[in-house]
Order: sequence, then C-alpha cells, then structure tokens
Amino acid sequence: MQGFAGKVAVVTGAGSGIGRALAIELARSGAKLAISDVDVDGLAETEQQVKALGAAVKSDRLDVTEREAFLAYADAVAEHFGKVNQIYNNAGIAFSGDIEVSQFKDIERVMDVDYWGVVNGTKAFLPHLIASGDGHVVNISSVFGLFSVPGQAAYNSAKFAVRGFTEALRQEMILAGRPVGVTTVHPGGIKTAIARNATAAEGLDRDELARTFDKQMARTSPQRAAEIILDAVRKNKARVLVGGDAKVLDILVRLTGSGYQQLFSPVMRRMLPPTR
Ligand SMILES: NC(=O)c1ccc[n+]([C@@H]2O[C@H](COP(=O)([O-])OP(=O)(O)OC[C@H]3O[C@@H](n4cnc5c(N)ncnc54)[C@H](O)[C@@H]3O)[C@@H](O)[C@H]2O)c1
Repeated sequence: MQGFAGKVAVVTGAGSGIGRALAIELARSGAKLAISDVDVDGLAETEQQVKALGAAVKSDRLDVTEREAFLAYADAVAEHFGKVNQIYNNAGIAFSGDIEVSQFKDIERVMDVDYWGVVNGTKAFLPHLIASGDGHVVNISSVFGLFSVPGQAAYNSAKFAVRGFTEALRQEMILAGRPVGVTTVHPGGIKTAIARNATAAEGLDRDELARTFDKQMARTSPQRAAEIILDAVRKNKARVLVGGDAKVLDILVRLTGSGYQQLFSPVMRRMLPPTR
C-alpha cells in the first residue's frame, strides 16, 4: 500500500468517533469512500463532512451483524466504484458488567457486533481486496484485546478474538502470496461516544460508568487516532498501538505476563464505579 489517492476505502461504524475520523482523514488523503453505520443521522453528518472535502462517497445504512446484507453490500460497493482496496472494520459497542451479573444475551450481543461484525466484513470484502491487487484489511481491536479487566469480559472476549482472527489472516495472506496487507489496531482510551453509547448489566450506573470513561480514560482525539492508524496502514504494520496509554499498558503486560492481573484489578476497581 503506497498512498491513499484514488484508493477505495470502506469504513464501518462511520457515523461517530474513530470511524468518522478515519473517513475524514481518508478523504483528505484522496481516497474514495464507502461509509456505513446503523446510526443514519451520524452517518449523514459524516457524509456531509467527507463531501465537503471533495471526496467521492457512497453512504449506506448497514448493520455489521447482518451477514447476508454485508455480503450484498460488498458486491454493491465493488460495482459502484469498480474496485475495493481497503476495509476498516471499525463498528463496535461496549458493555459493562461482571460475568456473574451479565446475561448470555449481553455477552452474545457484544460478540455479534465486535467480533462477528469484523468476520463478516473481512470475509465479504476479501475477494474484492485480493482482486484489486493492492488491498488492506484493518480490524479495530482494543488494548482490551491485549489484556483483560474486571467488568469487561464480553468486550475483552470480542477484542481478543478480533486480534486472533486478524493475526492469522495476516500470516495467511503472506503465505498465500496475496496482495493484501493486514493490520490489527489496539487503541487505548479515545475521546469518542463509545462509553455514552454503551450498555451495562441491570442495576449498574451507566451514566457514572460513561462519565468515568470520559473523565479518566479517554485521552487521545479521534483525529489523532485516525492519523496513527493510516500511518500504520501505509507502512503495512501488523499491529498498531494508539495512544501513550496503550503503549505503556502493552509494555506492562509483556513484562509481567499473567502477573498484570494482580496489578490491574485493584486499580480498575478503584477507578471504575461498581460493575456488579
Ligand atoms: N473509544 C475508545 O476508547 C476505544 C478504545 C479501543 C477500541 N475502540 C474501538 O473503536 C471502534 C470505534 O469506536 P468509537 O470509540 O469510535 O465509538 P463510537 O460509539 O463513537 O462509534 C461507534 C460507531 O459504531 C456504530 N455501530 C454500533 N453498532 C453497529 C452495528 N451493529 N453495525 C454498524 N454500526 C454500528 C455506532 O452507531 C457508532 O456510530 C470500536 O470497535 C471500539 O470498540 C474504541
């Protein structure tokens, strides 16, 4: 992947946060865009901003958990632009709650969006990316795909799974000689609506959880996150950590092995409102 001018890039969850910032940075870099979201109002706002930058844009409501719709969407994007070079599987949701107080459906919902959404997007677009001769898959995991914390088991499971899936894909593309780069993204706390959009187990204080995230954890702007991600795509990096917090936490986890659990859990318990 040399640059972005003339490339066709697909961004899911483009109606807010990192997805919107990615769409804007890609537009600034000369890419053509296929943007989608379940939030049509947020998506329309992104579409307007991207168009104002002069980018060609196709904008569609797409729920990443709907596999058949995703497969049809991939063909429609390829037909519309004549090719597809990149997919940013970015759409995601968060949920707080200890395992004891979480329902099966809560955990399944997070897996459906955050993991199966990524699998659906990757599988739907991979044939088109290969056919382009210059493709890239960018899957958004999290620092929570590098280590676990109490109260985030569903999100941790999905983000670890995204990492496992994407790291295997990268090796497969290399071994098969496919012209497709693959990057796993691990953001730390990014200033987006993720915590405000999140759900929580019954009885937990959602607003307090969101306020704590916004005040104490969200550090990097979405625009900066997008710049870091696009730089990693240009360099075809296997893994990119977004934010100083992500870098420090990654080092701590690698230095301590499973010992990080003893270090992190009391800190998380002090920082976060109750998650049980
Ligand atoms: N904000 C952070 O601190 C942070 C940290 C690590 C990873 N991430 C990841 O970054 C990605 C983007 O999150 P964000 O922080 O920009 O959050 P956000 O809530 O601002 O944006 C997420 C977007 O995804 C959309 N979405 C949700 N469910 C969807 C579905 N089923 N189909 C299509 N679109 C859907 C939402 O409508 C929203 O527009 C997510 O995968 C998230 O897990 C965020």
